[in-house]
Amino acid sequence: MDGNTCTCQSEKFKQLEKIIETHKNRPGALIPVMHEAQDLFGHLPFHVQAAIAEGLNVPLADVYGVATFYSKFTLQAKGTYQINVCLGTACYVKGAQAVLDKIADTLHIKVGETTSDGVFSLDATRCIGACGLAPVMTINDKVFGELDADKVEKILHEYLELVWGDDKNADTEEA
Ligand code: FES
Repeated sequence: MDGNTCTCQSEKFKQLEKIIETHKNRPGALIPVMHEAQDLFGHLPFHVQAAIAEGLNVPLADVYGVATFYSKFTLQAKGTYQINVCLGTACYVKGAQAVLDKIADTLHIKVGETTSDGVFSLDATRCIGACGLAPVMTINDKVFGELDADKVEKILHEYLELVWGDDKNADTEEA
């Protein structure tokens, strides 16, 4: 961990203290605090849950229980590229599961996981309102429609080339 990361993390923890202070004496403070903490950190790792538990004076098990019960909370950091495959009805009947399986196979991760290099994360989502393009997925803010296994493979390779290109450029700059 470098110095910048430490500074950034300690700044975030200061902000978290303020969030806790704002909600502390309100009934049902836990969930709003967890929401804001997730917006701040991007996910809810153990040390963030522990800080929330201590700040609100609630058992850590309660924070962990809420974090794991609600799908909107995530304990694991998301990837640089967040893939969401729609499993709404229109997408499902047009083969969204095969699309999801293809991505999982290609990246060697399951739904809810992030690749070990932190580049991709994979999630399933409900209808995103693009049923006319079913089956669809999003990568960050970009929507991809009328997918099949071949198209998905091509799209993933384009993203991988972007990542590899960045790596190569970094190597060249360092050399
Ligand atoms: S069901 Fe997938 S976009 Fe509507």
